[in-house]
Amino acid sequence: MSVWAVLAAAGSGERLGADRPKAFVRLGERPLLAESLERLDASAWIDAIVVAAPPGWEEPAILLAEELGCGKVSACVTGGATRAESVAAAVAEVPLDAAAIAVHDAARPLVSDDVLERLLRALNEGWDGAVPGLAVADTVKRVDGDRIVETVDRSALRAVQTPQVFVADVLRGAVAMRAGEPPAWTDCSGAVEAAGGRVKVVAGDPRLVKVTDAADLERVAALL
Ligand code: CTP
Ligand code: MG
Repeated sequence: MSVWAVLAAAGSGERLGADRPKAFVRLGERPLLAESLERLDASAWIDAIVVAAPPGWEEPAILLAEELGCGKVSACVTGGATRAESVAAAVAEVPLDAAAIAVHDAARPLVSDDVLERLLRALNEGWDGAVPGLAVADTVKRVDGDRIVETVDRSALRAVQTPQVFVADVLRGAVAMRAGEPPAWTDCSGAVEAAGGRVKVVAGDPRLVKVTDAADLERVAALL
């Protein structure tokens, strides 16, 4: 079964507020993108990679992959205005004979083989997709403005991460169905769920921290 990775790295990183897109901000000695790219390239679970880079940053992304010796990088596409558009552009580069697609955010540098194995095992069990999820530690309230309306049962909630893996045809269908419309989902699982797909949640990884602001960058650097 051939597994393709789509690496979404085309965001501008507005909340990080650096002088360059988030994927190219330093994490330790290297651009943030280097960490997830190298880890996916080294993974025995991944056969090939498509990177979505910010407009104007395609060349630096390709050079970085070459410098790192990431031979599985098959294409680098120009990302779109939203994550959904960037993912759709990268998915369009995945060949039709691919069996599964793992969509990952460069903003979560510390992707591991353990999580990929759990996700791909779920596909082998017959699920359309699988995502890593963590239990929610805080008590969660539903609010209307600043008034609390309801305390939500957190035992039934999961905070989901990437990578998210899908049967390739299922993801293609879900992404294509929504082309041209503003997407009603914020992750690929949302697109697949909306298309009627069955998605399993597997154990997430606390190390899959998402880099949003400068403090997150420090937290991830400490975990390297
Ligand atoms: N992403 C993308 N294309 C976009 C927007 C986001 O490929 N047009 C990617 C980002 O590169 C990131 C992931 O989606 O790896 C999650 O997005 P987020 O953390 O929101 O990153 P940014 O959009 O870059 O950050 P911000 O929202 O602060 O601008
Ligand atoms: Mg964003």
